Parts: sequence; C-alpha cells; structure tokens
Amino acid sequence: MRFSLGFLGLWFCLAATCANAASYTPPLSTRGRYVVDVNGNRFRMFGGNWHGASGTYSGSGDINDDANHHAGENSHTMPLGLQYVPIDQIIDSFEQMGINTIRLQFSNQMIHDTTIVDPSWVAANPQFTGLTSLQVYDAVIAALTARGIAVILNNHTDLSLWCCGIDGNERWDESQSYDTWVTDWVMMVARYQNNKFVIGADLYNEVRRDILTDPVWGGGGDADWQYASQQAGDAILTQNPDILIIVEGINWIGLPVDGFTHGRPTLTPVGTLSHTFHVPNKLVYAAHFYSYTGPNHSGATGIGETSDPRYRDLSRTDLFNVMNSSASYVALSAPSHFTAPVWMNEFGVGGRGTDPSSSDGVWFQNFVDYLVQTDAEFAFWPLVGYLTPDGQGNGWALANWNKSGTTGLSTGQLFDGTDWRASAWKELMAASGKTGQVPATEQWRMLSLDRGDLIQSQWARDNLGDFDNGASKAVCPDGLRLIGLGHSSTRGLCTDATYGSLFAADHATEVVFDERHVTNDWASGWTKYQCPAGYYVAGWAIRGVKTSTVMCEHASKTLGTNGRTVWFNNGDARGENTGDWANSQYKGSCTASEYIGGVAFTTGGVNNGAPSAINCVS
Ligand SMILES: *[C@@H]1O[C@H](CO)[C@@H](O)[C@H](O)[C@H]1NC(C)=O
Ligand SMILES: *[C@@H]1O[C@H](CO)[C@@H](O)[C@H](O)[C@H]1NC(C)=O
Ligand SMILES: *[C@@H]1O[C@H](CO)[C@@H](O)[C@H](O)[C@H]1NC(C)=O
Ligand SMILES: *[C@@H]1O[C@H](CO)[C@@H](O)[C@H](O)[C@H]1NC(C)=O
Repeated sequence: MRFSLGFLGLWFCLAATCANAASYTPPLSTRGRYVVDVNGNRFRMFGGNWHGASGTYSGSGDINDDANHHAGENSHTMPLGLQYVPIDQIIDSFEQMGINTIRLQFSNQMIHDTTIVDPSWVAANPQFTGLTSLQVYDAVIAALTARGIAVILNNHTDLSLWCCGIDGNERWDESQSYDTWVTDWVMMVARYQNNKFVIGADLYNEVRRDILTDPVWGGGGDADWQYASQQAGDAILTQNPDILIIVEGINWIGLPVDGFTHGRPTLTPVGTLSHTFHVPNKLVYAAHFYSYTGPNHSGATGIGETSDPRYRDLSRTDLFNVMNSSASYVALSAPSHFTAPVWMNEFGVGGRGTDPSSSDGVWFQNFVDYLVQTDAEFAFWPLVGYLTPDGQGNGWALANWNKSGTTGLSTGQLFDGTDWRASAWKELMAASGKTGQVPATEQWRMLSLDRGDLIQSQWARDNLGDFDNGASKAVCPDGLRLIGLGHSSTRGLCTDATYGSLFAADHATEVVFDERHVTNDWASGWTKYQCPAGYYVAGWAIRGVKTSTVMCEHASKTLGTNGRTVWFNNGDARGENTGDWANSQYKGSCTASEYIGGVAFTTGGVNNGAPSAINCVS
C-alpha cells in the first residue's frame, strides 16, 4: 500500500534509494500554508540538517581531542564529514534519501574566523586545503546547490559549540548586540545573494531562557524575540527580497524545576502576534520536536529533569494534539493573520541501539505519521555522522561514515538493512501530499504598533519619508488594504481578499488629517478621517492612543461607494474570522468584499481618540 502510493507522489523510494522526480525554479515564496517556486508549484521541504559548521565542541578539554566533541564527532567547525568522505559522496547519500533541502548551520564565530583549516581536517577533500572554514562553507553551498539542493542558512550559535544548553548561545543578542546580529545576517545573505538556490535564512536556533531572563513574544524589552525577528526579517529582505525568512517559536521558558512554571511556548504565541514583512509571502515558521523533550520537559535527565511528560510519554492522540496546538495550527487553520508554512526543522531519534518498540521508537513512527497526515515540511536532525572503525557512535545520523581512511567508507547508511528507521523514512518520502500548482490565496496580515512604526509598504518606505512626524505609523504591505482596526489603537489587519492588489500604478497617496473629504455624516458627532473618492485606507497613525492620520492610497480600479458604519468601541464587530489579531482589544473589521473608506474617533466625553468606527464601503 505504502509502496504503491509512492508512485503518485513526487518522491519515491525504491529498494535502496529515494528518487527526486521534482524540479523547481527558485526563488521561492509562500502561498497560504505552502512554499511554492517561481511558477507557483508546490515545493515541499524534504529536509535534513547537515550540522558541523556551528561547532561540535562540548566546551571543555582540548578542542583538538575528538572525545571533547558531541558524540566524539569533531567537525572542526565545518559541515561534518569532510575529513573522511569526499563531498560528492555525502551529497549522493542525501539524494538517495530524497533530501531536497539542507538546513546548514553556522556560528558567528565561524564566519569571523580567519584561521586556515588544517589539511588533515579536510583530508578527504584536498580541494578545500588552504581555505578558512567560511570558505569551506561557501564551497559546500556551491556543491549542494549545483546539484539542485536548496540551502537554508541557519544561525545556530554565537560561539562554535554544540548547542543548546545554558551556553552563551541562548539568545540572538547574548554575547553581542542586536545590531551586530542583524549586520552579520545581512552580510551572510548578501554573500550568497546571487545563488537563488540559497532559499532561506533561519534566523536563530532554539531561542531559550538564559540564566536570568525568559525570551518573550511581544511586549518589549531586549528579550522580545517576536520584535527582534520582525526587524531582522525586514532588514534581510531589504538586502535580498527573494529569500524566505524562517522564524522559530520560543523553545524554552522558566526554570525546569517542579513547582515553577516552565515550558515550550513553541509557536503558540503566533496566534495573537504574527509577523508581517514588507515583502509579502516570505514568512515560514518553524518548530523542533524530540522524543526526550516535552511540552513542559527540558529533556534533561537528573538536574533539570521534572515530572512532566516527555513527547515520547504522550499517547499518539495527545502527541498529535500538542503538535497541532503548539505548531501546526499555524499552517492548518482556515486563512488567518498568521497563516504560513510550518517547517518541522529539527526532529530525530537514534537509529542504532534504539529498540523500535521502545517509547523512542514508537514516538518516531507517530511523529512521521503526523508529518504524513499533515503534509508537513520537515528537516531531520542530523543527516551526517560517524561510526568508529569498531562500529561505535551515537547512531542518530541517517548516513554514518567510517572514520578510517579518506575515501568515504560508508557504514550504517539508512537503507543498508541495519537501520529500523528506514521504513518510516520511506513512508515519509512516499506520502502523497499536495503537488503541482498552488492557487494564489488571499492574504491576511496583521500590523502592530506595540513597538513603534511598522511601515510595511515598500512604496511608503522609499518615497514618503516621515509622513506624520512624531506619530506611530503603520501601513499595509503594497497590494494589501487595511480591513480592520483595534479599539486600543495599536493593531490593524490587512488583506487583498476579493480585490487583489488595489494600489494604482501612479502610487498616489494622501495622508488625511481632517474631515475635508467627508461627504456624508456616517458617524454623527464623531471626528471622521475619510479618504478622497477613489482612495482606500491602507494605514493609520496614532499619538498615544489618539488617531492622528489615516494613509489613503489611490485605487487601481473603480471602487464602490456604498458605505456602512461599523462601531467597535463597545465590543467586537467583525466582518472576517481570521484569528485574534488584536488580542484583548475590541476589533472592528469590514467583510472581505469591502474596503475601509474612513475612520471615526472622538476625544469628547470619556473618549480618548482611539479608532471607534470604520466606514466599510463596497
Ligand atoms: C548568530 O547569532 C549569534 C548569537 O546571538 C550572533 O552573535 C551572531 O551575530 C549571529 N550571526 C549572524 C550571521 O546572524
Ligand atoms: C507548560 O508549558 C506551557 C507553554 O509554555 C505553559 O503555558 C504552561 O504554563 C506550562 N505548565 C506548567 C505546569 O509549567
Ligand atoms: C489541527 O488544527 C487545525 C486548525 O485548528 C484543525 O483544523 C485540525 O483538525 C487539527 N488537527 C488535529 C489532528 O488536531
Ligand atoms: C571501517 O573500515 C575499516 C577499514 O576498511 C574496517 O576494518 C572496519 O570494519 C570498518 N568499520 C565499520 C564499522 O564498518
């Protein structure tokens, strides 16, 4: 059954290999929950992590002693394997497994290191002699992409260390400033900008608590990951508007001690605060799952271990529910302000020395079944590993290589008959997910003024300057119109539903700051800022909570003029159902077939000038 399904899919596994029948043309973007290529065809991320360039050092002892590296695997801060295996053989193994996307780690330390790699570290790839580890990283990207494998850059760590404890890598600004983090990212993206098979920037790995501070999602402060990733994503897209921006949720908060709050928010907070970049359709969310971690379990044994269940302790139903509510809902819900692909970009389990009937083995099969059922994007951790000549190693990699010689002796490859994970992997590769054309979908994106301006119109950024000096300003991405506002002033909703892109070719705009365009009194006694005829509202500005201006854009087509007043000062009045884009504020929105013609507010009486009614026009 599984086998025959495979021939319907894009990918199929024969006895010993999976073959790629798909071709795609970058650059990639998103349509709803899917990633698509330049022609609108689905690109499913059949991914794997090729780790090493972010370091494997465990942090103590002689760094040149393999024993002081995770699982005895010393990468010398390059993608693992190059010491013993010619790179083409490594890439062959990826193709045999059906991998089309590589998540390629780097550390900040690696990209600034000018040391020439020791020839013995690249003994199986003498063409890399004389290079720095960053130049080897360049060469690895060139080799992967020359064979059509998409690469996603992943800022895994600051220091070149094995990840992810309390190790100075917890947060993007942990060992240096936020500005340096963004500057480095822009530099890395510029470095590979001409190679369109470098499809994504995975902003930071496993954002988590450091000794004293929890990361937060919105709300301000240096530890605000939602804001930092919003800003970094916009900066990267300014450099390279073609690249996908991958944002992980929050991996860990709290103290892993029974009696204290602790857990993995993962992508849960996206439901009330999502990203809107100035380049549309470039956002992908990501989440990590391992058997030994849990929704409230750190994964530790001994210190840091709590009585919470690990993912492997959950029933299949409970596992599916928690994966859904903490991650996949972002992709699977009806169109919402947060809708985006979700990439499960780390999951894995040991293949040798793990009993497939153990809880780890059962977890893996359940996890793979979930990926199949939800047609999810994924990346296994890790693809490459070593076994010592006597067969020792941690056995997590899908492809293991013999640490003797430099000709790439394979030992313990996924399909050699010794790895119980092969059957689940084939099921995953053979699953019949969505293929071919993905219809263009309507977009719903939220705007937040919680942390100051969010001008997501490229046109406004380039041409309008500070159009309401001293006010906080929000403008929808070009092609989207405003369709909803929150009564506490700070949130809005944009869409292109029904009308598609409305922004006229002349890009005419008008910032309205009085009632000069009011033609009928649709909110008697209230101040009404209304767009001129043929214009629609695309943004707004506030001072404190008081409405300051509305941004009107000239429409590319003749607009209807039948208006109705939607009040939301005493409760929600919504014409759409796209999630909670103004959490704990009353929300007012038009229906998908309307546009906003004006905004009403007053500072009279007890009112504070916050948006209170909109004129919905069709
Ligand atoms: C990667 O993250 C580290 C840790 O926060 C940061 O210091 C570094 O600048 C980042 N590098 C890039 C290229 O983003
Ligand atoms: C478990 O984790 C979730 C998500 O972070 C959190 O909301 C919840 O409070 C945690 N529960 C406990 C008992 O710590
Ligand atoms: C996951 O969540 C989506 C959106 O809320 C829902 O449609 C779907 O039925 C859920 N699936 C599971 C397995 O819970
Ligand atoms: C690794 O290769 C050596 C040399 O060919 C061989 O003796 C050894 O058995 C191999 N080890 C494994 C685990 O395959």
